[in-house]
Amino acid sequence: MRAAPIPEAMLGHASKPDHDRDAIGLGSASGKGLDVRHGTILTLEDINVSFDGFKALNHLTLYIGLGELRCIIGPNGAGKTTMMDVITGKTRPDNGVAYFGETFDLTQMSEVQIAQAGIGRKFQKPTVFEALTVFENLELALKTDKSVWASLRARLSGTQKDRIDEVLQTIRLDSSRQRPAGLLSHGQKQFLEIGMLLVQDPQLLLLDEPVAGMTDAETEFTAELFKSLVPKHSLMVVEHDMGFVGSIADHVTVLHQGSVLAEGSLEQVQNDERVIEVYLGR
Ligand SMILES: Nc1ncnc2c1ncn2[C@@H]1O[C@H](COP(=O)(O)OP(=O)(O)OP(=O)(O)O)[C@@H](O)[C@H]1O
Ligand SMILES: [Mg+2]
Repeated sequence: MRAAPIPEAMLGHASKPDHDRDAIGLGSASGKGLDVRHGTILTLEDINVSFDGFKALNHLTLYIGLGELRCIIGPNGAGKTTMMDVITGKTRPDNGVAYFGETFDLTQMSEVQIAQAGIGRKFQKPTVFEALTVFENLELALKTDKSVWASLRARLSGTQKDRIDEVLQTIRLDSSRQRPAGLLSHGQKQFLEIGMLLVQDPQLLLLDEPVAGMTDAETEFTAELFKSLVPKHSLMVVEHDMGFVGSIADHVTVLHQGSVLAEGSLEQVQNDERVIEVYLGR
């Protein structure tokens, strides 16, 4: 964990049932301070979310292994974004269990606490500061880690500069570091936003339709980038672009009507009659 400790009272240490983890693809990467003794970085069990009686998530149970790159697919309205809203504290489930590692009860934490604990989320639309340079955007993202007081006074330490340099290389924007972000292409803005997550070194990254609107070359680079982030980071990627999913997926979960319809390798789910029926088509 990077940031200020979360008060004990916010954490439900004792309450989680020790269910069997029949998660697929459980990883073995080190957890960097997060308690991941079962190799599971994210636990969702029997989650329900309803909006005016409509069940957006319906007894959803899903595990993500440490160091895993999981793709989530499924038809429009299946509950993919709602699931990310639950994980990040934006939406409270009606009931169910949501844990980050073994000790962080996500249902009891604020959005800020969840981000500080090490879950980063990228929305579909890039939200970079257009008037600031690429470097400044990354600098700001790094400093949100601190209190306002500290970030006003803080100069970047050598380690922080190194981290930004490293991320600039990773997202291939090193030569654009002094350009205003507003001048970047749509895809480059997406990469910058991923960089803004990466400087904070989240252990779990949630990416909702990351390649929507990208060129083929940008989509290819995104695939390479995501593959290079594991197993240091664990990724949950929601995408409709099956070519992209095919190029990155170890394991795929298919959501349908708020529940897991199928889970396994891409080949397994592509050959699943129920998945073909509701999503992939014949
Ligand atoms: N705040 C809300 N109020 C009411 N209904 C909502 C709300 N958020 C989501 N829904 C409904 O919940 C269902 C699941 O929506 P969600 O956005 O999670 O689907 P999705 O799988 O992300 O779909 P898409 O592939 O189109 O992005 C949809 O029927 C949606 O209309
Ligand atoms: Mg969605």
